[in-house]
Amino acid sequence: MKKQAVALIVLSAVSGSAFAHDAGEFFIRAGTATVRPTEGSDRVLGMSHFNVSNNTQMGLTFTYMATDNIGIELLAATPFRHKVGLKETGTLATVKQLPPTLMAQWYFGGADSKLRPYIGAGVNYTTFFDEKFNDTGKGAGLSGLSAKHSWGMAGQVGLDYMIDKDWLINMSVWYMDIDTEVKFNSPAGRQNIDTRIDPWVFMFSAGYRF
Ligand code: NI
Repeated sequence: MKKQAVALIVLSAVSGSAFAHDAGEFFIRAGTATVRPTEGSDRVLGMSHFNVSNNTQMGLTFTYMATDNIGIELLAATPFRHKVGLKETGTLATVKQLPPTLMAQWYFGGADSKLRPYIGAGVNYTTFFDEKFNDTGKGAGLSGLSAKHSWGMAGQVGLDYMIDKDWLINMSVWYMDIDTEVKFNSPAGRQNIDTRIDPWVFMFSAGYRF
């Protein structure tokens, strides 16, 4: 081995920065993200409240360490697809959504810790698309489904475990305030249903730092 290489290894061992979330570093984490709505809504056509199914997609987070303890993170994902229905009717419709979320985070511990728990707070934007009634919904005379985009606050807790100096495994949980107005036509006229999605989002991922 060359002298310089040995010197570098000794230096990094002595400086203790083998595992690090250092200021100026950039992380990408990729894994599964599960959206679990804690739903509720106004009553729909004199029946019960909307229920909204869970869905799991690929989640990505991009994190920039502004200091050794403060991170800025963007959550992105492939589109989530939810079934929406009523107790009385079963599933009536499907809807897709993307919930990009920007967080300011605090990482506990030192830059060289193998284990970095963190908390975050930020803002969520959710856009809904491909809102469609299924045959049950159409059979009941429903049409023209749309769900309004949502802006809301989000909170987060997470944990990074550094496997080596570049790779980590992660788990994190968000609570997102996502509220929408669901509009559609029915035989009883145009409906406008205030709907709370307010999901827990669970992510399990592997990460890489640059
Ligand atoms: Ni809400």
